[in-house]
Amino acid sequence: MPAINQSACGKAILLGEHAVVHGEGAIAIPLSSRRIKVRVEPKILTPDSKIQVIAPDLGINQEYTDLPEQHPVFQAVRLTLIELNITQTPSCTLLVTSTLSFGSGLGSSAALAVATIRALSEFLGHPLPTNTVNRIAYECETYIHGNPSGIDNTVVSNEKPLYFQKSQGFEFLSAGRAFNFILADSGISKSTRESVASVAGQLAESPIEVQSKLTQIGQVVEQGKQAFLNGDIMGLAAAMNQNQQLLTAIDLSCPELDQLIKTALEAGALAAKLTGGGRGGHMLALVEDSKLPLVYESLQQASSGRAFTTTVGNQS
Ligand code: PMV
Repeated sequence: MPAINQSACGKAILLGEHAVVHGEGAIAIPLSSRRIKVRVEPKILTPDSKIQVIAPDLGINQEYTDLPEQHPVFQAVRLTLIELNITQTPSCTLLVTSTLSFGSGLGSSAALAVATIRALSEFLGHPLPTNTVNRIAYECETYIHGNPSGIDNTVVSNEKPLYFQKSQGFEFLSAGRAFNFILADSGISKSTRESVASVAGQLAESPIEVQSKLTQIGQVVEQGKQAFLNGDIMGLAAAMNQNQQLLTAIDLSCPELDQLIKTALEAGALAAKLTGGGRGGHMLALVEDSKLPLVYESLQQASSGRAFTTTVGNQS
């Protein structure tokens, strides 16, 4: 068995996070330059029917069975072995490296699961097709997030911009023009499980008020989807800004994110919002070509060097 290298990208939610958990549509884009890599190496000289997981960025160097049940690698390995009907654990080392930050709204748990499923299934001689990888990664996400919508594993496994709705599945979206985004890290690491649970709690306490916000987010997503498809940058910007107001109204922003949003808008971004679980993690700004250098520089300063750009759509 030769060593196998596989990877999976991060993702950013353009519009519709949280509301997507409650049945509304949402749009997500892949972050192909930010990846989690998994290398599987056989233990040729010392076979022991054990999988050793080494992930220096996560402080992990242990057998996979010793990882917590909620760890993406634990679930990804366990479910891949079940999927392939493998009862004898292979003797190998799983090395995880990453250019994607963990716990910051960029889909790291889904990327970790997808890269692990791909690498291990290929190592075992049965590379799994994307739809199976997606299904297993969704199952992993249920252990990690409690009640995931399924958008993260879907965009990460397909690595294309897409519109996702729980009841309908997903459709790929082709951007009507190139859109530039800048992401900046608030430096606050927050649990998506907790923010998803908080929205569910608010919904139980004030159903009419909170449901109305979620429905409005759904409407904003539909407007943003048309703008994305039509290459209407002002329409997309309006949708993103309205989305941020609605997310703030259900307590998903935080002072650090608000500050990054302010910095982006003051430097000339057309729109800025939180992305992913919120209350920390990353901010996402939509920026015209001419404003990119200034907004990027401002966000680099405001985030202590934790900003990066990504472009979606035809760049010609
Ligand atoms: O924080 P992330 O990268 O896991 O994104 C979560 C997106 C949510 O809409 C808040 C949850 C979900 O399952 O869709």
